[in-house]
Amino acid sequence: MSDNSDNVLTQSTGCPVDDNQNSLTAGEYGPILMQDTHLIDKLAHFDRERIPERVVHAKGAGAYGYFEVTADVTKYTKAKFLDTVGKRTPIFTRLSTVGGEKGSADSERDPRGFAVKFYTEEGNYDMTGNNTPVFFIRDPNKFPDFIHTQKRNPQTNLKDANMFWDFLSLVPESAHQVTVLFSNRGTPDGFRHMNGYTSHTFRWVNKEGEAFWIKLHFKTDAGNKSLTGAEADELRKTNPDYATQDLFEHLSSGKTATWTVQVQIMPEQDGFKYKWNIFDVTKVWPHSDYPCLNFGKMVLNRNPENYFQEVEQSAFSPGHLVPGIEPSLDKMLQGRLFSYPDTHRHRLGTNYTQLPVNCPYRARVINQQRDGPQSYNNQGNRPNYEPNSFQPLKMIPETKTSQYRVTGLIGRYKPSHPNDDFAQPGVLYRKVMNDFERQWLITNIVGHLKNANRVIQERQVKVFTKCDPEYGERIAQGLGFPSNKARL
Ligand code: HEM
Repeated sequence: MSDNSDNVLTQSTGCPVDDNQNSLTAGEYGPILMQDTHLIDKLAHFDRERIPERVVHAKGAGAYGYFEVTADVTKYTKAKFLDTVGKRTPIFTRLSTVGGEKGSADSERDPRGFAVKFYTEEGNYDMTGNNTPVFFIRDPNKFPDFIHTQKRNPQTNLKDANMFWDFLSLVPESAHQVTVLFSNRGTPDGFRHMNGYTSHTFRWVNKEGEAFWIKLHFKTDAGNKSLTGAEADELRKTNPDYATQDLFEHLSSGKTATWTVQVQIMPEQDGFKYKWNIFDVTKVWPHSDYPCLNFGKMVLNRNPENYFQEVEQSAFSPGHLVPGIEPSLDKMLQGRLFSYPDTHRHRLGTNYTQLPVNCPYRARVINQQRDGPQSYNNQGNRPNYEPNSFQPLKMIPETKTSQYRVTGLIGRYKPSHPNDDFAQPGVLYRKVMNDFERQWLITNIVGHLKNANRVIQERQVKVFTKCDPEYGERIAQGLGFPSNKARL
C-alpha cells in the first residue's frame, strides 16, 4: 500500500513509482518493455512541454497584488469595482518586452507591455496597455507587417535594420512612438520604474448612461527611471534577465511595488470636435487640456509560485471589460478586440478562461459553452441551451452597452481629421525633453539607423525633419550626411 505523505514520487495517475533511475528491461542488457508505463508517461509528457510562445510580448514577468480606489469616480463610471473609495480588487500583472523571443534580454530597446487583470465582482477586467502613451500605427491592418519588421529576416534569420527602418520611414505616423522608443524611455530601468498607459481612448459610462472618453495612466511611485543606451547595452551582456530578477527579488524580500493610477476624462461631445482625433493611438491628449486625476493605487506584493502555470498561461485582452468600461472607435483597439482571444484559443486552447490565473473567480460563469479540450468547469448538469424552461436564466438590462450614433459610407479611409503626424513628436523633442534626453535620443537613433541602407536613412531623416528641423539635422549629421539644407 502506498505511503500517503506528500514526498512520494508518482506517475501522473498518482501511482507510486518504484525506481526513477532504471527503465524496465528484459534482462540487464535487454530492450525496454512497452509495459514501462512510468517511462512512457514521462517521455510523452516531456515531448509535449512546449506551447506556442506569444507572437509578441513573449518575454515577461508576473506578479499579484491589489488595486485600491482612492477617489470617487462614480459620476463617470458605474463599474462596481470602482464604486467605493477604499475598495480593493485583487489583480495579476504581467510586464513584458514586445519584439524579442522568450529568451531575449530584458533591457532591449522596445516598448514594455503593462497588462493588469482585475478580478472584479462583475468578471475580469483587463488593462492591456504599454509603458508608452502612443503606438507606431493607427490601423490594425498594419500590425502584422509592423511586427514582422521587428522580428528576424525570413532568409538570414537575423534582426534586420533595413526591414525595421524601411517600414517606419514608409509609415510616418510612427514618428511619435519612434521618438519615444529611441529616447531613454525605450530602455526603462526594470519593470518597477516605468509607467503604464491604456494608450487607447476607452469609454466610461455612469449609472445615468452619461458617457466620457478616458485614458488611464499608471504612474510608478518608485520614480520613472530609464537606462541610457550604454547602460542597457551593458546589462544585455551582464544580466539579460535584469528586470525579471529585480521584480522577483524585490517582492520576495517583502517589499511592494506601487503605482498611482490616474484618469484623463473628456466629455463625450468634446471627443468629436477636439483638435486631435482622439481615436488615433499615435496621439496623446495634452495634460493642459485634460489633466490627470488620481483615483487609485496599484500595489504588487506577491510573486507567482509557478512561472508556467501563472505567468505563461495568463491571457489578457483589451476586450475583457466590465459594465461601465467600453471600447472606443479607435481602429487599432477594434482590431485588438478580435486578436487577443483568437491568439489565446490558439496558444492555450478554447477553455483558456478556465485556467486558474484567467478564471473570473470573483464572479460566476454561467453560459452555454460546453466541452472542448481540458474543460474542468463544464457547468455540471445545467441546461446547455438558452432559453430553457428548466433552469431559466436572468439577463441584467442595466449592464447593456451605451448607445451613440455612428454613421458613414463603407470604405477604406485614409485619415481626414486634422491629423498632423509630426506636431506631437516635434513638441516632445523641443519642449518635453531636456538637452540630456535629446542627446541620448540622437545617439540612440544614429546608433541603430546607421545599420540601414542610405536610401532608407534619407527617407527617415525627412520624417524627423518634418517633426523638427533641428531633430532631422542632428540625425543627418550623426549619419555623416551633407547639411540638411543642401539635401532637402
Ligand atoms: C500581446 C496583438 C497592439 C499591448 C499581444 C499578443 C497579440 C497582440 C497577438 C499576444 C497575446 C498572447 O499570446 O497572450 C496585437 C494587435 C495589435 C496590438 C493585433 C494592434 C492591432 C497593442 C497595443 C498595445 C498592446 C497598441 C498597448 C497599448 C499588448 C500587451 C501584450 C500584448 C501588454 C502582452 C499581454 C501579456 O502580458 O500577456 N498583442 N497587439 N498591443 N499586446 Fe498587443
